[in-house]
Amino acid sequence: MTKKAIDDTNFSLFDDLSVEPIDSQDLEKTKERMRALEKDLERWNYEYYVLDAPSVPDSEYDKAFQELSDLEKKYPQLKSAASPTERVGGAARSDLAKVKHAVPMLSIHTETDFEAEGARAFDDRVRKGLGLSESDPEVEYDVELKFDGLAMNLRYEKGVLVSAATRGDGLVGEDVTANVKTIRTVPLQLPADVPEVLEVRGEVIMHKADFERLNDEQKMEGHKPFVNPRNAAAGCLRQLDPKVTAKRKLSFYAYGLGEVSAPLALTHSGTLDCLQKWGFPVASQRRVVKGWKALAEFHDWVKSIRQTLPFEIDGVVYKVNSLAEQNELGFISREPRWACAHKYPPEEALTVVEDIDVQVGRTGKLTPVARLKPVFVGGVTVSNATLHNEDFIAELGLKIGDTVVVRRAGDVIPEVVRVLPERRTGAEKDFVMPDHCPVCGSETFRDEEEKDTRCTGGLFCPAQRRESLVHFASRLALNIDGLGEKVIDQLLEAGLIQTPADLYRITEEKLLTLERFGKKSAANLVEAIEKSKETTLARFIYALGIRHVGESTARDLAQHFRSLNVLMSADAEALLKVNDVGEVIAQSIIHFFEEPHNRHVIENLVDLGVHWPTPEASAVNDLVSGKTFVLTGTLPSMGREEAKALLLAQGAKVASSVSKKTDYVVAGAEAGSKLEKAQALGVAVIDEAKMLEMLKGAQ
Ligand code: IVH
Repeated sequence: MTKKAIDDTNFSLFDDLSVEPIDSQDLEKTKERMRALEKDLERWNYEYYVLDAPSVPDSEYDKAFQELSDLEKKYPQLKSAASPTERVGGAARSDLAKVKHAVPMLSIHTETDFEAEGARAFDDRVRKGLGLSESDPEVEYDVELKFDGLAMNLRYEKGVLVSAATRGDGLVGEDVTANVKTIRTVPLQLPADVPEVLEVRGEVIMHKADFERLNDEQKMEGHKPFVNPRNAAAGCLRQLDPKVTAKRKLSFYAYGLGEVSAPLALTHSGTLDCLQKWGFPVASQRRVVKGWKALAEFHDWVKSIRQTLPFEIDGVVYKVNSLAEQNELGFISREPRWACAHKYPPEEALTVVEDIDVQVGRTGKLTPVARLKPVFVGGVTVSNATLHNEDFIAELGLKIGDTVVVRRAGDVIPEVVRVLPERRTGAEKDFVMPDHCPVCGSETFRDEEEKDTRCTGGLFCPAQRRESLVHFASRLALNIDGLGEKVIDQLLEAGLIQTPADLYRITEEKLLTLERFGKKSAANLVEAIEKSKETTLARFIYALGIRHVGESTARDLAQHFRSLNVLMSADAEALLKVNDVGEVIAQSIIHFFEEPHNRHVIENLVDLGVHWPTPEASAVNDLVSGKTFVLTGTLPSMGREEAKALLLAQGAKVASSVSKKTDYVVAGAEAGSKLEKAQALGVAVIDEAKMLEMLKGAQ
């Protein structure tokens, strides 16, 4: 993506003002615009550098900065003496002592093209600067990560760390020696053979894992979390109390030198090797390469491993490797001509939530989705972001029309991370979760436990249709042989079915019109569907796919109510009497049967011949009912499945592992670890004969 393309996709928050001035009225407008930009930039600068709490993403700052610099170039007469473009870095904080850098801490040129062109442009300039022609060999470069942290100058005298200073405005920084000494990887004492004066430059960063830990703590203690690792690192570094810094883990990576009384090597890579040997952390992702294609390859490679790095980077840095060539190239204004930063597209950007739509998933979950004013972020143009659920929106404090920060890192789906309430105009609207499904119109309900809102349309809702049909036909439900996902998809596509009731209207003739169906397979499927009409109440209830009603709850409900009509009219009080049915399950059942569409499908199923015998009323056998059994080993007269069925039929629970909650372990021949565990926990162990005796208690 070229810079031009990015500018085209990035919308400007000030579209109305970015016009070409032609007359004095427009000039006046431009002046206003420049003053407004200055004001914004100064405020953001202050938030960023002094408060360590930026309110806008860097990309927004950069954009405004660029706009102001461009205007200043075009209309120098309108430039104010105190323009933020005059600054490099922030004003030194007054409460930390100032340090004048022996050698200024420069910034480097940033290539604006995120693609290979950026690498080629840099190499071109270098070759030109060195007076090389096309036939001359490729230039050698040292290539490194561009750490997203804070530049640091560490001064060693006679091998002892005497000062650590931030970059500040490049000439004067802040003394943070006490805090930097708490960074475990910064050597306090160097080997004997180092130059008398040695300034090592590098970046102080916070690893992603340490950042997450710190933010968890911040939240737990009721403090505001940090926006990103770099700001957390800045906050920690400028702490006035080093004990606080010591608790928050910072890291340091060396990438160059400041003042030195003797050079360490003839190349930049040799210098880094030397620093590494003396105990400085140097990132292992550095290479020595030749020519612009290799620069671009490194840029691509780092992009592919970026997410796996333990810290954040915002690009790569290319440096001419030979120090002699570096000298020859020298500097332009405040930037060396021998180095450049080649960044990746910003991962955060500002945009506006134009609307919030609601999508219905295959399980009936309603997901609010932010419709964004398209914005270029993380290398793509993003126009949607999931908002997960109502609580997520409430936590963000998001309203429709809000200006938000959108983040897209790597291949991760875009997220709305922050709202900028200060940008509100008053026209923003609250989002309300719909009380009816936007797809089928059925009522929705909130599942408190899962914090989700769900459609009650179940069997009827087109969004959930496929899932409910697959479930309906599955083995433990109506067990329709040969009716798997593929066939269901085929039937849905052909418009032969919509709800489970339609299955019973399918004929061989209709199936024969479909691909892959022959006479035999069509006849088989129709027969399997016909066979499924004869079922049990428990299977039928399970087949309805009521949320939270699994196979065992369906069995309990069938046993308890013995009639579908009674179950359908049961209120919460009645439902709560059923084994293992709590408030959540009861509400889910009530919502399901309240929905007229669901009742309608059930009615159709019964009309089309689905039937079941009334379950036997069972006198409760207290010896077994409600007790938990575990079956282990080989039983003498029956398989474990059979024994399980007998126990379940009398209201027992059959678990697969032994715990303190187990009432009985039924052990057969060659019982192993489960028996041992039962003995260890003091759980009663019985044999098959004893189990059968207990089961008889019911008759
Ligand atoms: S070299 C004269 N190498 O990027 C060249 N800088 O404007 C001095 N940065 O804030 C910089 N990683 O702190 C260099 N591997 C790296 C870097 C790096 C991050 C930062 C640096 C400064 C900015 C350069």
